[in-house]
Amino acid sequence: MAYEAFARKYRPKTFDEIVGQEPIVRTLKNAIELDRFSHAYIFSGSRGLGKTTTARILTKCLNCGKGITSEPCGVCENCQEIDKGSFPDMYEIDAASNRGIDDIRALRENVTYAPIKGRYKVYIIDEAHMLTREAFNALLKTLEEPPPNNVFILATTELHKIPDTIKSRCQTFIFKPPTVKQIKEYLRRILEKEGIEYEEKALELIAEASAGGLRDAASLLDQAVTYGGGKVDTKSTEELLGVIPQKIVDRFLQLLKEKDIKTLIKGLEKLDADGYDLNVLWKQVTDEIHSELINASLEGKGKFFSEEDIEDLIYIQNIFTKAFSEAKNFPNPKHIYELAVLKLKYIKNLVSIKELLQGNIEVSPQETHTKTDKRQEEEKPVFNIQNAILKAGKEAGGIVSAALKKANIKETDNEFVILVDKSLVDIIEQKLDIISKHFPKPVRVEGIEHKKEKKQKKRDEAVDKVLELFKGKIITYKEE
Ligand SMILES: Nc1ncnc2c1ncn2[C@@H]1O[C@H](COP(=O)(O)OP(=O)(O)OP(=O)(O)O)[C@@H](O)[C@H]1O
Ligand SMILES: [Mg+2]
Ligand SMILES: [Zn+2]
Repeated sequence: MAYEAFARKYRPKTFDEIVGQEPIVRTLKNAIELDRFSHAYIFSGSRGLGKTTTARILTKCLNCGKGITSEPCGVCENCQEIDKGSFPDMYEIDAASNRGIDDIRALRENVTYAPIKGRYKVYIIDEAHMLTREAFNALLKTLEEPPPNNVFILATTELHKIPDTIKSRCQTFIFKPPTVKQIKEYLRRILEKEGIEYEEKALELIAEASAGGLRDAASLLDQAVTYGGGKVDTKSTEELLGVIPQKIVDRFLQLLKEKDIKTLIKGLEKLDADGYDLNVLWKQVTDEIHSELINASLEGKGKFFSEEDIEDLIYIQNIFTKAFSEAKNFPNPKHIYELAVLKLKYIKNLVSIKELLQGNIEVSPQETHTKTDKRQEEEKPVFNIQNAILKAGKEAGGIVSAALKKANIKETDNEFVILVDKSLVDIIEQKLDIISKHFPKPVRVEGIEHKKEKKQKKRDEAVDKVLELFKGKIITYKEE
């Protein structure tokens, strides 16, 4: 038995089987039932959305042996011939190869003859935008004085290339890409009719990969069944589509959460060596971070991150999306992605004190106590310096919050000492009352002078990393 591709085998034979084009289907059905159908249509939309399919169904509606109907029988000789493409009154013209005046002249002559077998002759002109100007002009004459019993359907993927004079004499339908959900249901129906086992996640992957076209979706499904050895499972579908297994993406997010830079870098190396496309990985990771952000913001919690990570997440996403666009124009994307991961090491040292003091940046938006805060209080009766800093910062707001996050806190038997850069002592002292409320012992501020030295050290560390990564060496060193 010859194998028939799903896209062909499951080409819809009735209006009700057409997926995702409800307004068009409804209008056409009504037009036929009310005997108000047009003699000229334009079907526009990208590939594989059902333009040709709809044109053929309309041809059946007009020529079905049981009479003009919006529900053609599908079994009479005319219906069957139309489905096979062999009906003598249906002309499928490919304007990409017959774009000239002679072809349209032949068509103009043909329209004067009566139909051979059916009630209407239907001309389906595919890729109609490819017609030459002369051909369009000749066609226009026919559309202006349409001889009876002829219907024209111009199918095109580029509506803007159809002259306005033609457009104004046709009824235009714009086919829309189906949603991922609609594609999934379409694929599911095929698999269920075929009795093929499948995993939900695999269907989703195929639907997402088929970029809105049902023909692509059906062809991918064909491949997935073959590749999966007769079933559609997630693992082999991931391989087929070249997507990174969800397990790996999850692990990546987990490591991000743990800020385990070392393992992340090693992981990138390994994936690259294993032949995975890091651009694909990056796309999946940034998609995942995006949904983490949404969930952490709206629900208070994502799969890996929660409300208190939102600032970090925004920072990560910023760096990662930039890396994504840079990597596209870079011969070795791996380097860009490694650098992006390395940058995360400095996640808490983003804003220079100078910028803060100039008041250009608002670091921590003032927030009222939320439910989560209360829950944390109840669940964590043990005193935790990090928590205290966070809460004190929230209450004191702006600069103080940022300064506290950078501060070192020293705990002695009878007090807490906040060690900050000298320039910040005054600012923090002004809010000491508020800050103290969050600590179980008295709090004092002490200015320190290491700013310069510390910064230098940090930079050296970064330089070392880069040198290690790129196996480079320092040639000149510029003193600031
Ligand atoms: N709306 C749809 N509902 C169900 N299946 C569809 C739909 N659109 C496309 N298909 C599937 O894709 C195949 C191709 O569809 P069709 O030839 O109608 O697309 P088209 O819009 O004419 O594309 P092209 O611009 O490439 O000619 C069909 O055989 C069918 O399997
Ligand atoms: Mg087509
Ligand atoms: Zn019929």
